[in-house]
Amino acid sequence: MNEPVNQTRIPKKLTVPAIRARKDGERLAMVTAYDVAFARFAEQAGIDMILVGDSLGMVTLGYDSTVPVTMADILHHSRAVVRGAPATHVVADLPFLTFQIDDAQAIQNAGRLLQEGGVDSIKIEGGSRLAPRIRAIVDAGIPVVGHVGLTPQAVGTIGGFRVQGRDLETAKRILADAEAVAEAGAFALVVEAVPSELGSLITERVPIPTIGIGAGAKCDGQVLVCHDLLGLEEQIAPRFAKRYAELGAAVRDAFAAYASEVRSGAFPDAAHSYQMAEEIAESLRQEVSRDRS
Ligand code: KIV
Repeated sequence: MNEPVNQTRIPKKLTVPAIRARKDGERLAMVTAYDVAFARFAEQAGIDMILVGDSLGMVTLGYDSTVPVTMADILHHSRAVVRGAPATHVVADLPFLTFQIDDAQAIQNAGRLLQEGGVDSIKIEGGSRLAPRIRAIVDAGIPVVGHVGLTPQAVGTIGGFRVQGRDLETAKRILADAEAVAEAGAFALVVEAVPSELGSLITERVPIPTIGIGAGAKCDGQVLVCHDLLGLEEQIAPRFAKRYAELGAAVRDAFAAYASEVRSGAFPDAAHSYQMAEEIAESLRQEVSRDRS
């Protein structure tokens, strides 16, 4: 007999060693979430890891890049996600300019995400040049997920959200970045927007799980931005963002139906209103009309 759809699998929170062990096991399914409702749905659906990504700046705050996102933004959304998914491993992004200055700044901000945001690990964008900083954060006892390939915080330097590593030189550099980040102590690695062949090579060469987003099918896991996956993001449609639902259309239709029923008076009907006993209502009417006369 088919399992009823509402009997969903509540996962046991994955620890860092358990995630590392998935290098040789079942693929990791990760999504972004930014609030309690979607975090709850993700946990109920058995998602392995939730990312409070700085993509929240684009899909929930309306910025045209992730650059304006602040620590306060990530902390605010992390707390909501952790409340919604207490049994799921939650990773939070270190936003732009919160780790570039020196090790002390990076450790302090990464630590705040754990202490004040309640998340389990942090993600940081960057490759070989960032490796010593990743080492410093890991040495401070903070679990780190790396992020190589397309690193959206560098959009100004890259000149747009483009596939990275199509030429030999850049592909070799991204592979070296991946190896350096793993060597520095990251326990998992997001690989974004690179050709599948490169995603596959990185996955073969690094000893930690790769979590691809537009990096092909050979990665040890996949991550998608929840607004893309659910059809809530209609402005930007990257090739890798498969839509598993059309919630944008469903939300628009629901708002339109509501507005139409409000205007026609069909909402609220008796089922959506409170009633009092008829004799009390009658007494109330009589007393009010007596008071008025
Ligand atoms: O911020 C984010 O959502 C991310 C994913 C694209 C991996 O970094």
